[in-house]
Amino acid sequence: MEPDPREPRPGEIRIDLPAPTDAAIRFIGRIRTPWRERSHCPKNSREAIARGDQALASVEIDPRFADGLRGVEGFSHLWILYWMDRGARDLIMQAPAHLAEPRGVFALRSPARPNPIAMAAARLIEVKATSLLVLGVDCLDGTPLVDVKPYFASTDAIADAVRP
Ligand SMILES: C[S@@+](CC[C@H](N)C(=O)[O-])C[C@H]1O[C@@H](n2cnc3c(N)ncnc32)[C@H](O)[C@@H]1O
Repeated sequence: MEPDPREPRPGEIRIDLPAPTDAAIRFIGRIRTPWRERSHCPKNSREAIARGDQALASVEIDPRFADGLRGVEGFSHLWILYWMDRGARDLIMQAPAHLAEPRGVFALRSPARPNPIAMAAARLIEVKATSLLVLGVDCLDGTPLVDVKPYFASTDAIADAVRP
């Protein structure tokens, strides 16, 4: 689906993107969620988890990658990486409504970014063949799936991390 570039807000900057380099990213599946409009999506994983059963999502993996799922059922949480296919890619400075000042894209979790990769540490509820029932993703229905990795509390959780 084509991204939907909106008019820049005051303080926002668009850039001319460099020519694409062929990273040969292969989408490995799609994420089925209850949301067809951005405004209906949770803003982040925490909000998705707070919605409970209303936010259950199915990570549908192409059966060609089935063997790659061996062992996932032992993990309580997985990192789900997905491709925000409906975001602008050239907004290097952004002015989100919830911030007082514009901020650079790499200081934001915005879906609009040069490589629109999003991430969520999602709770794994059930594995059914090549479908993972999860809680914690915040994307539109049909969002392409980039990768799945196990979440390790021992190395991924940073108790003293700070944010502005
Ligand atoms: C703020 S982003 C956070 C994404 C991810 N949790 C992260 O931290 O990388 C989540 C928002 O992106 C928007 N969004 C969801 N799916 C999208 C898609 N396929 N393309 C563009 N924007 C999307 C929705 O407005 C949603 O609330």
